[in-house]
Amino acid sequence: MTSILSNEELNQQIRNVSHEIRNHLSICDMYSQIIKKNLEKYEIHNSSIENAIECIQQSIKIIGTNLLELKSLNQNNPQILDFEKIVKTGAEMSKAYICDKNIEFEVYVKNTALINADETKLLSCITNIIKNGIEAIEIKGKISVLAEIKEDKGIIKITNNGKPIPKDKQETIFEQGYTTKKTGSGLGLAICKRYLGEQNITLELAKSTKTQTSFEIKIPITK
Ligand SMILES: Nc1ncnc2c1ncn2[C@@H]1O[C@H](COP(=O)(O)OP(=O)(O)O)[C@@H](O)[C@H]1O
Ligand SMILES: [Mg+2]
Repeated sequence: MTSILSNEELNQQIRNVSHEIRNHLSICDMYSQIIKKNLEKYEIHNSSIENAIECIQQSIKIIGTNLLELKSLNQNNPQILDFEKIVKTGAEMSKAYICDKNIEFEVYVKNTALINADETKLLSCITNIIKNGIEAIEIKGKISVLAEIKEDKGIIKITNNGKPIPKDKQETIFEQGYTTKKTGSGLGLAICKRYLGEQNITLELAKSTKTQTSFEIKIPITK
C-alpha cells in the first residue's frame, strides 16, 4: 500500500535524512583532514593521495551545499573564480568515475579569465557531464575536456566517444526523469540545466554522432 506523506512528515523526513548525511559527511571530512595532516607530519609527498584528498573535500563541500539547498536556505552564491582552476578541479574530481575502464582522459585549457559563478554548482555540473561521458563509454574510449576564453565567454567542451544519443532524444535528455541506464535517475542533466540557467550560463548538446558526443558550457566572463 502506498501512503502519501503530509508536508510536515515530508519536512521531518528531509530533516532526518539531511542530519544523517551531514553526520557521515563530517566523518569523511575529519578523516580526510587527518590523512592530510599525517602526510605533512611524516613528510610523505604523494601527489596522487593529495589530489584524492582535495577531490574528497571538494565533493564534501558540494554535498553540504546541496543539503542546504534542500532546506531552501541557500540561494546562489556567486564568487569570482579563475576559469582554468575550476575546469581543472572539475576534471580531476570526475576522474574517480573512470574506475576500471580503459579511458584516455585529456584536459586542455587554452587561456583563462575571471568568471562570476557559484563554485559548487558549477563544479557539480562539470562533474555530472563528464560522468555521463564516462558512462557512455562501455570499456575503452576517450574523454576530452577542452576549455578556452572566446568572445567574452568561458567555453568548456566535454567530448566522449561511445554510443550516440538518437536524434529524436537530443532534446529529451534534459528532461527530469529521462534515463537509458539501468540504475540511472535521469536527474543529472535536468539539474545542470537548472543550476546553470540560474546563473546565466548555457548548456547545450553541441553534437552527437557515431564518433563523438559533445556538450558545451558557456559562461559569461567578468569584465
Ligand atoms: N555523453 C553522453 N553520451 C550518450 N548519452 C548521454 C550522454 N549524456 C547523457 N546521455 C543520455 O541522457 C540521459 C540522461 O542523463 P542524466 O540526466 O545525466 O541522467 P542519468 O545519467 O541518470 O541517466 C542518459 O541516460 C543518456 O541516455
Ligand atoms: Mg547522469
